[in-house]
Amino acid sequence: MIPISNYLDPACLLKEMPSLFQKGWQFVSMTDELANDQDFVTLDLPGTAVVVQNFAGALRAFRNVCPHRLNLVQTEERGNRPLICRYHGWAFDSGGRPKTLPPRQEFPSGGDDERLCLQRFHVEICGRFVFVSMEESPPSLTEFLGEFALVLDQLSRVIGPLTNQGTIAHACNWKLLVENVLECYHCGFVHPETFVKGLGIGKKAIADVRIALGHSSSHFPKSPTARDALKARAVAHLIDREYVHESFFHVHIFPNLFISSSEGAAFYVGHAVPISAGETNLRTRFFAPKIDLDDRAQARQDLINRQAVTLGKQVIGEDKTILENVQRGMGAANRLPVLGADEIRIKAFASAYEAAMNG
Ligand code: FES
Ligand SMILES: [Fe+2]
Repeated sequence: MIPISNYLDPACLLKEMPSLFQKGWQFVSMTDELANDQDFVTLDLPGTAVVVQNFAGALRAFRNVCPHRLNLVQTEERGNRPLICRYHGWAFDSGGRPKTLPPRQEFPSGGDDERLCLQRFHVEICGRFVFVSMEESPPSLTEFLGEFALVLDQLSRVIGPLTNQGTIAHACNWKLLVENVLECYHCGFVHPETFVKGLGIGKKAIADVRIALGHSSSHFPKSPTARDALKARAVAHLIDREYVHESFFHVHIFPNLFISSSEGAAFYVGHAVPISAGETNLRTRFFAPKIDLDDRAQARQDLINRQAVTLGKQVIGEDKTILENVQRGMGAANRLPVLGADEIRIKAFASAYEAAMNG
């Protein structure tokens, strides 16, 4: 079990950075957000800032800190602009070398000196998921993901266009967000209208659990609901979609990425980004299923996509209220939590976490 102080102590978060976030591979974005020349995405973690930038089709990752006087180079979460520091105008090439040093300055060893270059990180993609590694010699992303590489690859092929993205601030430790999505034991109590009545999820026990290398997946099986017949008519145009399952399918990629599929008809990618021991930004991305539709069916699907985003955000809001109170409860606790059979994926997360922290 993870000690309670690890959810509260700022010093522990600083230890998690090299042990969990700068080791292995950390999700940054979907390839869709980096599809064009000069597209960039940034990720701020305590003590580290990452930028992934498209250079004429090739993705490159760097520490997002200008070597000159340490300004952040790209300052937005995502966008499209060259990799140029806004302070004195250093522009960087795909190797992180300054292409042009604005006039009036001589630097000690000329433009090739490593001290004048951005620090390079590794970047790899699995399907449409872009990951960065800050390790000097990391394992390949495929090795890191193990059997879940295939899962991400398959999901990438059936996930359609992005319908919504944003960031939701949580006043709790990032691990509480992860643990919360690894079980649906709470769903009946916390999400009675959304998960239970809306989707028919939360009444049955977790199923088809797979655990490997700290990652895990499971199905949360569906029960019949009063709205099934109505829902079946509303999504009749999706009958030929490639990915169909009667459940809520959930994948966790260690340490802080989760992906879910609601019957293959709506998808969600959540990324719990730590800000401090007691603050986490949940980066949310919602997706439609990939399927060719005529205009009439597309209009129906647009409505369903909007409903899926509304429902997803409602679920996140319901969880957020609980998790912020769990954070307060942890601050007042004097013993460890107790886990039941449905919380098996939380146990797996705790084991992988402890191995990484002690490794
Ligand atoms: S700090 Fe970036 S160019 Fe000076
Ligand atoms: Fe929940």
